[in-house]
Amino acid sequence: MSILVTGGTGFIGSHTVVELLENNEDVVVVDNFVNSSPDVIDKIKQITGKDFSFYEVDILDREKLEKVFEENSIDSVIHFAGLKAVGESVQKPLEYYHNNITGTLVLLETMRKYNCKEIVFSSSATVYGNPGVDKYAESLGRGKTTNPYGTTKAMIEKILEDLYTSDNSWKICMLRYFNPIGAHKSGLIGDNPNGIPNNLMPYIQKVAVGELKELSVFGNDYNTVDGTGVRDYIHVVDLANGHIKALSKLKTYNPGVYVYNLGSGKGCSVLELIKTFEKVNNVKVPYKIAPRRPGDIDVVCADPTKAKEELNWCTQKTIEDMCKDSWNYIKNVSLIKNN
Ligand code: NAD
Ligand code: UD1
Repeated sequence: MSILVTGGTGFIGSHTVVELLENNEDVVVVDNFVNSSPDVIDKIKQITGKDFSFYEVDILDREKLEKVFEENSIDSVIHFAGLKAVGESVQKPLEYYHNNITGTLVLLETMRKYNCKEIVFSSSATVYGNPGVDKYAESLGRGKTTNPYGTTKAMIEKILEDLYTSDNSWKICMLRYFNPIGAHKSGLIGDNPNGIPNNLMPYIQKVAVGELKELSVFGNDYNTVDGTGVRDYIHVVDLANGHIKALSKLKTYNPGVYVYNLGSGKGCSVLELIKTFEKVNNVKVPYKIAPRRPGDIDVVCADPTKAKEELNWCTQKTIEDMCKDSWNYIKNVSLIKNN
């Protein structure tokens, strides 16, 4: 039996495929490369020394997706495929709703057709909105989302709940990620978005390698340790392992809808992240203080207790590890580009 990974050449998907292969799972990957590239396939094979099936498929393409289910014996799906840029989603809401929501509907209909009813879905802490508490527990439920990207995550969660209500044989696990950063220790795979990055670590990386002049720190007047925004950063390999734990537990669970936060439970400010990056990598990250970014809040931090108790999962890696691995990866990318 195989595990289908949608979006498996993307940032989190590729790290999860590595961990799955290292756990001797049979893996089938689909991706349309809208935000990744084919060379990731070889990188995964290089890291693991293992092979897997890959299909260049847009999950909106029902015929091609059905062919993947025809040709493989798939009993569970980890669903990463989706567009994820918050700012772009405000500019292109129809594209985001179509890709993320319709794509998920086509995937779920195809799964149902082939009697595959086990899915782990990439959700996000963004579904909590701004609950105004120090740590977000799953019991808070979904809040008000502030952009189309976040709304697609909240809507897909609701679709999955309604699906289970209509058919009690589904096993559904929704994982709410906090802020994934870092990279595989090999330096072969990581996060390197095209163009000017929106997120903090990809921006720091580009400043550190000299591709961008300086980082803008969005606001230093928040109610936090040093006035800058605090987030719960999680190493992408810890996050990938959260999926392995979730999937293996789901196999032992009764059908139902399960939801878990994947975060460390520890906050780190923008300035703390910059300072750690500079210190562990011995590199400068020039920055200036800039106005707050609209929509940002002071603190976003997980209460990871439920994942610890029920999945026996917690983060292992530190902020130092995340900074070292992010730097190791981007230095490699930069080296290849300049040769
Ligand atoms: P990513 O963009 O690196 O990976 C997503 C992958 O899906 C890409 O390889 C892309 O080419 C593929 N894809 C997109 N639409 C597709 C389609 N219609 N058909 C086939 N492939 C398609 O993003 P990521 O950071 O790895 O995120 C993975 C998932 O986790 C996404 O659903 C994202 O929304 C969610 N998530 C990410 C974060 C984060 O900070 N990175 C936080 C919370 C949730
Ligand atoms: C953002 C999204 C969130 C999404 C996540 C991963 C918003 C409001 N939230 O989370 O929905 O799930 O990305 O894609 O966009 N910062 C700077 N300078 C920068 C970039 C960021 O100071 O150039 C600060 C931010 O103000 C924030 C922190 O760094 O305090 C983290 O920002 P970012 O990496 O963009 O993640 P989030 O905003 O937490």
